Amino acid sequence: MKRIGVLTSGGDSPGMNAAIRAAVRGAVNHGMEIYGIERGYEGLIAGEISEMNSRSVSGSIHRGGTILKTARSKTFMTDKGFRMALNMLESFQIEGLIVIGGNGSLRGAAKLMEAGINVIGLPGTIDNDLGFSDYTIGFDTAVNTVLSAIGNVRDTSESHDRTIIIEVMGAKCGDIAVYAGITGGAEVILIPEREVDMNEVCRVLIENRNKGKMSSIILKAEGVHISTAELESTIRERTGLDVKMVILGYLQRGGSPTAKDRMIASRLGYEAVRLLHADIAGKAVGIVGGKVVSYELEAALEMKPEGITSLSDLADILAT
Ligand code: F6P
Repeated sequence: MKRIGVLTSGGDSPGMNAAIRAAVRGAVNHGMEIYGIERGYEGLIAGEISEMNSRSVSGSIHRGGTILKTARSKTFMTDKGFRMALNMLESFQIEGLIVIGGNGSLRGAAKLMEAGINVIGLPGTIDNDLGFSDYTIGFDTAVNTVLSAIGNVRDTSESHDRTIIIEVMGAKCGDIAVYAGITGGAEVILIPEREVDMNEVCRVLIENRNKGKMSSIILKAEGVHISTAELESTIRERTGLDVKMVILGYLQRGGSPTAKDRMIASRLGYEAVRLLHADIAGKAVGIVGGKVVSYELEAALEMKPEGITSLSDLADILAT
């Protein structure tokens, strides 16, 4: 392949720029032309496409967000929008496309593949909810951001003898909560993969108080069925504890990527180009056991993320 494109789609995640940078510089290194497509599938449909070179990605590796911008495109889901996307790829003579994004974005890539487009999907989301890769680009940074928030919140929680619930992102996945909860020493971690037992949560908090532990941090993943406000009032009513909540929201999506995210993104971005240069497409590229791997895209999207319940069992033990 001689001319390829790259886009980022769905929620931005720290490290996306490192992946774009590796794709662009990898393409230049292979003597290929590479076009940047802005605002994901939305920009593809609108023809927001321009050629990139090594200088286009200068000064981007340390930046959060995505220099190509991103979007969740509803138009692309329509027949008309999808056809427009295909036409645009044809008119720019783009032979291969690298899509960096989460589940929905990679499903869009699979649809393009079915329509005959050479695509490579890279896991770009803070959620770490893609089964074909041990880590998704942006997850490590998000965990570290939450970890730093736990530190700040703990100062207040200890000063006021308060129980503070911190709600974190992750869509239907509890990985951010479990990783940040274990490393930040949260007293309780609530994730969608495990049934929430309110009696048990209250029992742990009361037992902690009786042991002289006057403050606690509850880390709650957003995918847990009970709302954070409801959780706060229920715990207050049942235990009489001084309970407050904080929702971290978009604080977790931005920020300079960690070394780990930059490294993963650089390796995956380069691999995507290497495959397209070798005329290999229809793959999802991830990292498993520290090695860069690729799977058939559709099969990759059916792979279930490894259960994190054993890690959350560990969290329970360490929190006692
Ligand atoms: O997928 C990344 C993510 O940040 C999820 O953790 C969260 O549920 C969702 O995106 C929020 O999406 P939006 O950008 O539409 O608010």
